[in-house]
Amino acid sequence: MSEAQGLPQTEAEAVEELTRLADEIAAHDIRYHQQDAPIISDAAYDALKRRNSEIEAAFPHLVRENSPSFQVGAARAEQFSAVEHGVPMLSLDNAFSDDEALEFDVRIRRFLRLGDEVVDYTAEPKIDGLSASLRYERGVLVRGATRGDGRVGEDVTENLRTVMDIPHRLAGSGWPEIIEIRGEVYLGHAEFAALNAAALAAGQKTYANPRNAAAGSLRQIDSRITATRPLKFFAYAWGLVSAPFAQTQGESLAALKAWGFQTSPQSGVVRGPEGLLAAYGRLEADRPRLAFDIDGVVYKVDRLDWQQRLGFVTRTPRWAIARKFPAEQARTVLEAIDLQVGRTGAVTPVARLRPVTVGGVVVENATLHNGDEIARKDIRVGDTVIIQRAGDVIPQVVRVVTEDRGEPPPPAYEFPHHCPCPLKTPLTRETTTAGAETVVRRCSGEFACPYQRIEHLRHFVSRRAYDIEGLGEKQLQAFFDRGWVRAPADIFRLARDGEKLAELRTLEGYGETSVANLIAGIEARRTIPLDRFIFGLGIRHIGEATATVMARGYGTATAFLDAMDRVAARDPEAMDDLDALDQIGSAVIEAAHDYFAEAHNRGLVDDLVAELTIQDAEQPRQDTAVAGKTIVFTGALERLTRDEAKAQAEALGAKVAGSVSRKTDLVVAGPGAGSKLKTATELGIQVMTEAEWIALVG
Ligand code: IVH
Repeated sequence: MSEAQGLPQTEAEAVEELTRLADEIAAHDIRYHQQDAPIISDAAYDALKRRNSEIEAAFPHLVRENSPSFQVGAARAEQFSAVEHGVPMLSLDNAFSDDEALEFDVRIRRFLRLGDEVVDYTAEPKIDGLSASLRYERGVLVRGATRGDGRVGEDVTENLRTVMDIPHRLAGSGWPEIIEIRGEVYLGHAEFAALNAAALAAGQKTYANPRNAAAGSLRQIDSRITATRPLKFFAYAWGLVSAPFAQTQGESLAALKAWGFQTSPQSGVVRGPEGLLAAYGRLEADRPRLAFDIDGVVYKVDRLDWQQRLGFVTRTPRWAIARKFPAEQARTVLEAIDLQVGRTGAVTPVARLRPVTVGGVVVENATLHNGDEIARKDIRVGDTVIIQRAGDVIPQVVRVVTEDRGEPPPPAYEFPHHCPCPLKTPLTRETTTAGAETVVRRCSGEFACPYQRIEHLRHFVSRRAYDIEGLGEKQLQAFFDRGWVRAPADIFRLARDGEKLAELRTLEGYGETSVANLIAGIEARRTIPLDRFIFGLGIRHIGEATATVMARGYGTATAFLDAMDRVAARDPEAMDDLDALDQIGSAVIEAAHDYFAEAHNRGLVDDLVAELTIQDAEQPRQDTAVAGKTIVFTGALERLTRDEAKAQAEALGAKVAGSVSRKTDLVVAGPGAGSKLKTATELGIQVMTEAEWIALVG
């Protein structure tokens, strides 16, 4: 290939060259892929593909359905680059019973204040694959990404192009200029079996289930490998769109189909709660005959305007839920019971099992929850037990098969009185604030207990917290064992510790590159958003959602730490402020108190803060009439439900509080408002009706 070759001047020349390139590239693909005997370098191969793309870009109407740009992979990327989704990819809340499905319908009607009106839903099979987002601009596929953490995924465009069900150009008409199509990449049963059979014959490792196989296939660095995997795709949702294109979920699915996607044939619109249950029954009955794995039914409110009103709670939409199929069960032998010490010292018994396959996955461990559960189920080491796993949930021991108990029976299990950690602390039973004994047994060693320390660190580097690339469980444990990382701040110090890094380079499994990557991974997280910082502290009861609420409430790390110090000192005003934050109750306040009142913890936090740049919380909207205001809703609302009013206010940058104080800016009072309205009037706080509120916020 000559450099800087000019473009073909005529259409005829273009057709000729595109045809030649297609043949040439196809021949190289076969040599590379099927014969393992390439005759040109990767760079030369890439140049051919680039030339093909250039000509296609200049003569877009000549792009053929079987163009080499679509068929197989382009350059072999070193790793996937990050793609920020135009709209985050969320997950779904789960329902495990008819009651929970019915409760979903009740919730929806209550939120929308529909009374007895019947709600239409779509019921769609919950495909067990991995979700992907496909961005189309003017009908052309420009990028494809994995879900990643929901906000940022991996760019797997070249791999997705090899999936047959994914059109490179949208068919039909009426598609928005820009649209992110979402759906599930999956592998059918037959294809999965064939793939594993081939792997086995070639002496390669097999995949545990179709889902893993689909994920492994999609994340191949070389898209030519992906191209040999018969992946499929069902479209069922969308993210960013430049213009609305339908009014209901049902219509949207029809549109996706008209544009050339596969939508699952088992999807349909159902009416009301009976419809929800019937759809579940139908899918459960169909399940064994389907050519692919499903793990439940997804219900979505059909009307999109209602979906919009319902909105989201942190990471899941209020307008959809996944009704999961019951867990799959298997029978095996309980070989031992080990105790695991969690981050907060809670000691959990774990069942070590004779390995058994449950729903395509080999299970060797299961949770036993706590000592009371073991006693209640009378589980003994050596028993034959029934275990089950549902979705991604940790497998559980359901019951003992007592008929299989030998003679003499194994002795009843006695819960140890001491922690298995080197400190061997006596295990204490936790009591509630009311003084009742709970089922949790705790190691009192706290930071002196190495088990709790390592769990803290694991939480710290976990995906949802600092998510440090190159620092997985294995590396963390190794650094911990060497005494290099004993507290979060140590991780950041390690990245700048020339001596330790030099030593690290000499260790097995660590080359120049991996150490450089580790440093880059750590440095990338030295700047951290406030919510992740708070979540990363691993305080009991402060999960992601609560951390986000706290971050928004306090705004900056300084304000947060200052407030926590005051909470630690039980300063009433600081405790009230914390209490006033949405969804925060006494459990969180007590946990925050206990954590920050502990001098050792406080020291660790300071130590960590010194290493970091903590970004202020993303501030809620500033450009609205109610931004930054604290609002209290009281009395009966007639057009909005309480939840809806609250969600609306928060979306507009306001804080919603439960009680009226001097800090309240506005009280929206409906009929029957009592003491709160009285207080507001006494304090001279602005009061308005629901109608005035609606007029104000539009
Ligand atoms: S809708 C905001 N529909 O389930 C709603 N998800 O637990 C986003 N999934 O990440 C998802 N089949 O990978 C939707 N018909 C379906 C689905 C489906 C499978 C997966 C998807 C998602 C996960 C959520």
